[in-house]
Amino acid sequence: MQPHPDMRRFELNGQARYDRTYRTPIIESVTGIAGKTFIDLGCGRGYESYSVAAHGAQAVLGVEGREAFLEVGRSGARYLGVEERVQFAAYDVRRIDEYGLPKADVVLHFGLLYHMDNPFNQLKHVRNICAGDLLLETQIAPLSFEGADRAQIAQLSDLSTVYLDGVAFEGRALDYVEDPAQAKGSLDRQRVFWLTVASVQKALDLAGFEVLLTVHNHIPAHLQPWGELLGYHQKRLKAFFHARVKDPSVTLPVEAGRIEGLESARFSFEAYQGLRRWRKRLGHWWRKRELS
Ligand SMILES: C[S@@+](CC[C@H](N)C(=O)[O-])C[C@H]1O[C@@H](n2cnc3c(N)ncnc32)[C@H](O)[C@@H]1O
Repeated sequence: MQPHPDMRRFELNGQARYDRTYRTPIIESVTGIAGKTFIDLGCGRGYESYSVAAHGAQAVLGVEGREAFLEVGRSGARYLGVEERVQFAAYDVRRIDEYGLPKADVVLHFGLLYHMDNPFNQLKHVRNICAGDLLLETQIAPLSFEGADRAQIAQLSDLSTVYLDGVAFEGRALDYVEDPAQAKGSLDRQRVFWLTVASVQKALDLAGFEVLLTVHNHIPAHLQPWGELLGYHQKRLKAFFHARVKDPSVTLPVEAGRIEGLESARFSFEAYQGLRRWRKRLGHWWRKRELS
């Protein structure tokens, strides 16, 4: 059987392998894999789902809003011979606790939070399907644009306060304008809200999780050497969190999401760049003046 062309491939001793992603060793190190149940939210092509199954997970559910991606995940599971332990479902993660799913030992939440316009509300839904650990990796709203990669930040708004379900969070808005044929981000073409690191921690806490580990910029020794692969070359723009549900026996109803302030976020990146250019010019002029 041939691997699906979209299965994630990596090299080990010069050999092509498909049974793990760069995140597999991190999941192994932080929560363990063998014998645990997993829900992989926004699983895309299902790489992590079939990967944790191949590494001994008891049962895995990959959840993805785009049916076409799930086919890659299913074929990956078949290729690795783990199809009995991996299911895939086209559910909406924004109301993931409304499908009657049993709670999972570990919820994977990779590359998903920043596709939400109300990340806080989404995390409350996640709490209701989590019996233990949450591993969350997301893009982060940097506190300043200083030193950040222009391509990454050009579309982000100024740092703003947005009220999600009545609670204040800091972050930056971003308008998703994707070609629907190529789209792999938000299900709707919409304005989403990237939280700062402190606001992700606050959202996790208020949603009912205890934050056990935050990895941002600095990679702790026990996550080396794979940490580099989690996208930390993007420095301040990405972070990884390990959280644990505070009271797994409780399932709380989640109110309909409320968002205030998102539409009024200001996008002044170009003006900011202009200001930097002027500051630089003024600096040159000042130094020249001092030398003469
Ligand atoms: C950037 S991809 C991340 C994929 C994968 N978890 C990874 O990190 O490689 C985000 C995924 O979330 C899915 N997604 C976005 N909003 C969703 C929603 N409301 N319900 C289900 N899936 C959603 C997208 O279709 C996309 O596949």
